[in-house]
Amino acid sequence: MIVLSTETPGDHWEIEALLDTAFAPGRTGLSSYRLRDGVDPVPELCLTARDDDAIAALAGTIRFWPVSIGEAAAPALLLGPVAAHPTRQGEGIGAMLILEGLERAADAGWERCILIGDEPYYARFGFRRSLAEAIAFPPPTNPNRILAKELIKGTMKGVTGTVRKWRAGKTRHAKT
Ligand SMILES: CC(C)(COP(=O)(O)OP(=O)(O)OC[C@H]1O[C@@H](n2cnc3c(N)ncnc32)[C@H](O)[C@@H]1OP(=O)(O)O)[C@@H](O)C(=O)NCCC(=O)NCCS
Repeated sequence: MIVLSTETPGDHWEIEALLDTAFAPGRTGLSSYRLRDGVDPVPELCLTARDDDAIAALAGTIRFWPVSIGEAAAPALLLGPVAAHPTRQGEGIGAMLILEGLERAADAGWERCILIGDEPYYARFGFRRSLAEAIAFPPPTNPNRILAKELIKGTMKGVTGTVRKWRAGKTRHAKT
């Protein structure tokens, strides 16, 4: 059985190793990482998936970062990175992590979530390219991979502009 837990500092290097295994080399060169530089992820939304046995091997990880969108600085969550260990893909671990993270995000009052990824995978969780057509990521980013989900219905309406790094001290749940 898989157990989901909130990430702790002791998970750090195991998570980095899993991400290095799951993603192509140079993952930290992606433009999405520039939005994460020097900004803490949202701790209660960063999760590990481990086997419920004596070894408790790390089978998956998800993290979410706060970002703001456009001149209006609309607060949003950036989903990712999310990964399942290559030997454990297709078991539903990615889905468990994403669903739990999104549920916690909604419970915490976040209104919208964005990501860069494949719509054929993320559509099952409610992410749509059509909701993200008015937003842009810093280059180089393939615009067709920018997706958004409304955690509260209607909250992507009127949200336009470039996704920016979160500013320290910003009020997280400010309505836009
Ligand atoms: C993407 C990832 C997190 C999914 O986790 P997972 O535990 O393997 O996924 P699940 O078991 O929940 O779902 C498996 C299903 O998703 C599909 N799927 C996985 N990646 C997909 C993709 N990129 N595009 C379309 N479908 C995808 C599988 O084909 C499978 O389909 P099925 O249910 O019809 O059989 C995992 O494959 C992974 O770590 N990949 C490498 C890192 C990565 O690309 N992360 C996402 C960055 S955007």
